[in-house]
Amino acid sequence: MSARKILVTSALPYANGSIHLGHLLEYIQTDIWVRFQKSRGHECHYVCADDAHGTAIMLRAEQEGITAEQLIQRVSDEHQADFAKFGVGFDNYHSTHSPENRAHSERIYLALRDAGHIATRDIEQMFDPVKGLFLADRFIKGTCPKCKTEDQYGDNCEACGAAYTPAELIDPVSAISGATPEMRTSTHYFFKLPNFADFLQEWTKSGRVQSQISNKLQEWFEAGLAEWDISRDAPYFGFEIPDAPGKYFYVWLDAPIGYLASFQNLCEKQGIDFDSYWKADSDAEVYHFIGKDIVYFHALFWPAMLEGAGMRTPTGVNCHGFVTVNGAKMSKSRGTFIKADTYAQFLNPEYLRYYFAAKLTSGVDDLDLNLDDFTARVNSDLVGKVVNIASRCAGFVKKFGDGKLSATCAEPELVERFIAAGEGIAADFEAREFARAMRKVMELADEANTYIADKAPWAMAKEDGREQEVLDVCSVGINLFRQLMVYLAPVIPELTDKARDFLNLESLDWASRESVLTDHAINKFKPLLTRVEPERIDKMLEASREVLVEEQKIKDGTAKAEAAAAPSPLDTDPIADEIDFDTFMKTDLRVAKIVKAEHVEKAAKLLKLTLDIGGETRTVFSGIKSAYAPEALEGRLTVMVANLAPRKMRFGVSEGMVLAAGDDEGIYLLEPHTGAKPGQRVT
Ligand code: 2FM
Ligand code: ZN
Repeated sequence: MSARKILVTSALPYANGSIHLGHLLEYIQTDIWVRFQKSRGHECHYVCADDAHGTAIMLRAEQEGITAEQLIQRVSDEHQADFAKFGVGFDNYHSTHSPENRAHSERIYLALRDAGHIATRDIEQMFDPVKGLFLADRFIKGTCPKCKTEDQYGDNCEACGAAYTPAELIDPVSAISGATPEMRTSTHYFFKLPNFADFLQEWTKSGRVQSQISNKLQEWFEAGLAEWDISRDAPYFGFEIPDAPGKYFYVWLDAPIGYLASFQNLCEKQGIDFDSYWKADSDAEVYHFIGKDIVYFHALFWPAMLEGAGMRTPTGVNCHGFVTVNGAKMSKSRGTFIKADTYAQFLNPEYLRYYFAAKLTSGVDDLDLNLDDFTARVNSDLVGKVVNIASRCAGFVKKFGDGKLSATCAEPELVERFIAAGEGIAADFEAREFARAMRKVMELADEANTYIADKAPWAMAKEDGREQEVLDVCSVGINLFRQLMVYLAPVIPELTDKARDFLNLESLDWASRESVLTDHAINKFKPLLTRVEPERIDKMLEASREVLVEEQKIKDGTAKAEAAAAPSPLDTDPIADEIDFDTFMKTDLRVAKIVKAEHVEKAAKLLKLTLDIGGETRTVFSGIKSAYAPEALEGRLTVMVANLAPRKMRFGVSEGMVLAAGDDEGIYLLEPHTGAKPGQRVT
C-alpha cells in the first residue's frame, strides 16, 4: 500500500474557557486516529488552534482588565499544557488571530465576493447605548413574552421553552451594562448559501458524513437554506472585512479557515506543500473531527465556502456525540463538570484514553463515562489482562534466559495468529470503530493469559531441567504482549512507550510487528501502570466542585477582599534589590514534605500546609489554593524557607513559607528532584 497524504483537524476550542472532559473526547478520538495513521506509515498531519475571536472574548478580556491578545495568549498556553497532559500530539497548534488566518480569510472572502456570493443589506438589531455595541441575542435579557418569567435570554425562554426575537421580550435590558437597548439599523454582509444548494445536496450524500448526520442535513435542506450573516460591527475582536471599514468577519467565518491557517503555519515550518493538500484536484485526504452541535458550520457553510473559493472540500466530517458522566449531563454541582487539569491532578490520563477508546464507535451517540465502569474496565483490561502478561513472563526471561528470549519461537502458529489479527484491528481503527478494536485486543489478551495459565511456567520453574521450557513459554508470552502493544500504541502512547523500552525495540509501528522476537534481549521490567484507586475519583469530584466554587467567587468579586488580606508567595516584587552572598546564605531553605494540606475556611487563596522538615513539623499558610486541590498536594515534596520569623495571620500562625513560581497566569510549587529527603538543606 502506498503512503496516503492525510490532514486531520479537531474543532478549535474557544480562547476563553478551560478544556474539560467533553472536549477531551474529541481530541482523544482524533489523536488515536492520527497516531494509528502514522503507525501505518502514512504522511499524516494533525493541526489545531485556538478559536480566538468574537464578542465573548473581547468582553472577557475587558472584565479581567487585560487586552484580548493577553487573554488569548494565556488561554492558548493553558490549552496546550492540558492537551500535552493527555498525550494529544498535535503537529501544530496555532491561533485564528494570526497573520496566516487573516490572509486566508481575506483571500476566501474576496474570491466569494468576486464570484457573486456575497450580498449586503441593512438589518435592525438591538444596540447597547452605554457600551456602544450591537447585542447578540444571548446578551439581552428580559421577561418572557409568553409565560412572563423574568430574566430570560433574548432568543428563548428556559421556563416555558418559547422561542422569540429579542424585540419581543418585555422590558429588555443589556446583559452587559444593564441599559435598555435601542433598535438600530446597520449594514451586514451575507454569504449566499442558497447558491450552493445543489452542490451541498450532492456533497452531503457522497459519504462525507455519517448517515445520521446526512439525514439531519436533509431536514435542513427541506426547511430551505438561508443566507448567512458573516459580518459584525465594531467594536469586535476579529479581522476587519476588506473594503468595509468598521465591519468585521463574524467569528464563525474565520474559525474553520483557522484549519488552513494552522496547516499553512506548519507547512512553512516543515516545508510541506500547502497547495498539494488544498488545491481543487488534490489527491490528499482532509478530515475534520467535530461534535454534533457544530455540523451546520462544517457540513454546509464550510464546504460551500471552499467550493466557492475554488478549493477542495473535506474528504470527511466525522461527528461524535457528547460526554455524559454517570448517565447525566456533566454537572457543576455534582462535581462531574470535570476540567482536564483537575482530572490530571488525580488520575492517569491514559485511563481516560483507554476508556474512551473502549466505548467509541463511528456513530454520533453520546458516550457515558460511568465512573464505576471506568474503574472496573481499566483495572480489569489494562492492568489485569494486558500488563499482567509482561509482568508474569519478564522475571523468568531474566532468570532462565539472562534477559534474552528463546532462540526459536515455541508457538509460531499462535504468534502468527496474533500478527494476522492486526489486519482486522487496523480496519476497525480506520473506520473509527475503536470499541470493536479494543474488544478484539482484549480477546487476544485473554488468549495470551490462558496460554500462560495453561502452561503454568511458575510450576515448571520449580522442577529441575525444565528451564528451557519455561523460557520458551515466557518468550511466547512476551511476543504476544508485544503484538498487543502495537495495537494499543495509538490509544495509550505513554504506556506503550515504556513497554517499547522494556521490549528493547526501536519502534512499535504496525509493520514492525511482523518480525517475531527470537534471541532478543529485553530490558528490566518496571511496573507499567497502577490500578485506578476509587478514592482518587472521589477526590477528583470533590476538587471539581471546589474549582467551580472558586471560579464563581472570582466572577462575582467576593474573592478580592480576602485575597488582599492574604499573603501570597507571589505578592513580592519579583525583581528585588541585589543582595550579597552572606545575606543569601542566611536564608534557611529546606526540603519539606507536605504531610497534610487543608482548606482554610473563608480564605479564597490560602491552603494550610503541615510540613515535615526532617522530624520537625511546621504549619504554613500558602496562597496556592487556586492552583492546587489540597488532596493533590499530600505526600509531595517542596522547598520552604525555614527561618522566616513566624507571622500571625487571621487564620493562625504561619511558620515559614513554601516556594512557588508564578504570576497572574498560574502558580507552580517548586519540587526537588526525586530522591531528595525532607529536612535536607537547599543551597
Ligand atoms: O464550538 C466551538 O467550540 C468552536 N470554537 C469550534 C470551532 S471549530 C472550527 F470551525 F474552527
Ligand atoms: Zn416563558
